[in-house]
Amino acid sequence: MDILESLHTQVDLHNIKLNIPTLSNEVGELLRFFVSLHRPKIIVEFGSGIGASVLWSLLKDHKDEPTWQQFVLTERREDCFESFQQINWPIEIYKKLCFIQGEWNIHKITEVIQGCSIQLFLVDGQKNQYRKVIEEIYPLLSKQGLILIDNTNWLETQKAKSKNVVSCLQDMHESLSKDPRFYYVFLPKIADGLSLLVKV
Ligand SMILES: C[S@@+](CC[C@H](N)C(=O)[O-])C[C@H]1O[C@@H](n2cnc3c(N)ncnc32)[C@H](O)[C@@H]1O
Repeated sequence: MDILESLHTQVDLHNIKLNIPTLSNEVGELLRFFVSLHRPKIIVEFGSGIGASVLWSLLKDHKDEPTWQQFVLTERREDCFESFQQINWPIEIYKKLCFIQGEWNIHKITEVIQGCSIQLFLVDGQKNQYRKVIEEIYPLLSKQGLILIDNTNWLETQKAKSKNVVSCLQDMHESLSKDPRFYYVFLPKIADGLSLLVKV
């Protein structure tokens, strides 16, 4: 078993144990495609779970040596952090990971990236906070910086349990598609819907 397969197996086991709804393979493969194309130096994620996105951000020919400099994971659940620490991360990957456990906090992110700009921002936490976290990350995002937002078609599925989530996602589509600061694409048929934003 190669290193990437072994990491996927470990992360999958923890995801099942903790009941984490992880990125679909489709979204994961797209993430890997963008990492390969764009070669981001700094990646930040809102709602990291155990860190499955880290695996999708490793290129197959660089699997034990990331092409990025830093991957900042943010996750409120303490049990996810405990599982993250139990993963047998190769040292070359582990030293580039920064896990911020606790509620999303832009000040902590600003502190850990130390004046660098972010090239890739993954949005997969609480749906009704999507708009807020995008606004907060905007000043830290580099020009041409990319944002991937997962589950943006929940308004079409049964998964959006509350009206509040549906209306937040609707407002988000509405406002981002008209926002001159971004180029916005909504891909409703990819998993539960994926939105892509590029800072212009
Ligand atoms: C859909 S799961 C995704 C996990 C991960 N991205 C993956 O693909 O495996 C969303 C995670 O976001 C976390 N989360 C939601 N809102 C958050 C917040 N405001 N601050 C920190 N973490 C949050 C949840 O605890 C949950 O583990």
